[in-house]
Amino acid sequence: MDNLSMIERSQRHVWHPCTQMKLHESQPPVPIARAEGVWLYDFEGKRYLDGISSWWVNLFGHSHSHIKAALVDQLDRLDHIMLAGFTHRPVIALSERLGALTGLGHAFYGSDGASATEIALKMSAHYWRNTGRPEKCRFVGLAGGYHGETVGALAVTDIPIFRAAYAPLVRLAATVASPDARGALPGESAADVASRAAAALQSWLEQHHAQTAALIVEPMVQCAAGMAMHDASYLRQARALCDRYEVHLIADEIATGFGRTGTMFAHQQAGIRPDFICLSKGLTGGTLPLSAVLTTDTVYDAFYDDDVSRGFLHSHSYTGNPLACRAALATLELFDQTNALARNIELAKTLDCAFAPLTRHARIRNARRLGMIWAWDVDPGNTPLPHFARRFAQHALGHGVLLRPIGNTVYAMPPYVMDADSADHLARGALAALEDTLAEESLAHV
Ligand SMILES: Cc1ncc(COP(=O)(O)O)c(C=O)c1O
Repeated sequence: MDNLSMIERSQRHVWHPCTQMKLHESQPPVPIARAEGVWLYDFEGKRYLDGISSWWVNLFGHSHSHIKAALVDQLDRLDHIMLAGFTHRPVIALSERLGALTGLGHAFYGSDGASATEIALKMSAHYWRNTGRPEKCRFVGLAGGYHGETVGALAVTDIPIFRAAYAPLVRLAATVASPDARGALPGESAADVASRAAAALQSWLEQHHAQTAALIVEPMVQCAAGMAMHDASYLRQARALCDRYEVHLIADEIATGFGRTGTMFAHQQAGIRPDFICLSKGLTGGTLPLSAVLTTDTVYDAFYDDDVSRGFLHSHSYTGNPLACRAALATLELFDQTNALARNIELAKTLDCAFAPLTRHARIRNARRLGMIWAWDVDPGNTPLPHFARRFAQHALGHGVLLRPIGNTVYAMPPYVMDADSADHLARGALAALEDTLAEESLAHV
């Protein structure tokens, strides 16, 4: 089997996500035959470094022996059992573990990030209904927020390219200012921007709290908005405002959870406790689809009743799948076994050094890092950079690196198992792809 025949078969039958399929006429999808550690291999043996952890899911590298062994063991015991009316060891152990890690002791499971968003939104509105305030059924999110693309999740996803075509289907939530530190006015600090955004949230809540069930935020980094980072003080102020106006705080940690921002969960950097936490992506170390929504006793107790209709009846066929839960447990074991959070501090220093030439590049603005997320904005100069992200990604592949910029923001979210050589390969590839893309742009403008 070679790359070409795989591409032909794929083009005929596979409809890809986040893709205008016609683009594949000039940029065919890359067939991947296998993956190991930080490397992806095509059918002809060419390798690519997975610089974005396969859409931010892979934490400890591909095909990790510990996760694989856990999955094989689990397959021999129990592949799947519906979670309505049944329970099993992996889902119990995982719920206990997530409860201990977050302080939120009730876990409800879905299959992907968007379904976790749906679950949190429904649970919040249903909580208010069960407590005699059904009018609290609207939501508020941050400008540029991304929480998934199912119809319910799109209500709180503020990215027009993903939402516009479905606008008539969506019950749009309100949007308040983002605390994105790049919005600082001259002389302002990131904390000042956070306070300004919190003031905007306050005036919105003052008017609308009676109809508002929850505020949903991506703590510390709005990833799909181009790795927009904010000061932790925003989360403290948002928590206080949610308390004052009796509005739930939903922390969407789907992208930021599991050590990505330096702490196990990003909201912990603000020392707050949300009412709901949405988890997915890194939860299974990038092996199987699984999401979880964690919540408080207060929320859980409001559903606990003799009346069936007051229960949370939401369900998915694969809710709490034993294999996925087992992969999640093995992933959490790896955090302990490898002392991952402490090791990432050292690894980040190595990557900071490797990325220094990119950070110093004349066309780079707003170089920033939090934990294991690096981002750089490319200054478009006098003219916009048409299709920058697409061209950059293509050049990066040519240099053996998987990177997919967002708009003009180049970022890296590598797995936690990089070594000095792979860090060097990643940084060199990113810089070379930037140079290639800028050279191509300048030719186009002649
Ligand atoms: C913060 C956040 N929430 C939700 C989602 C949706 O997750 P999924 O793609 O698994 O539906 C994403 C995906 O990128 C995300 O970054």
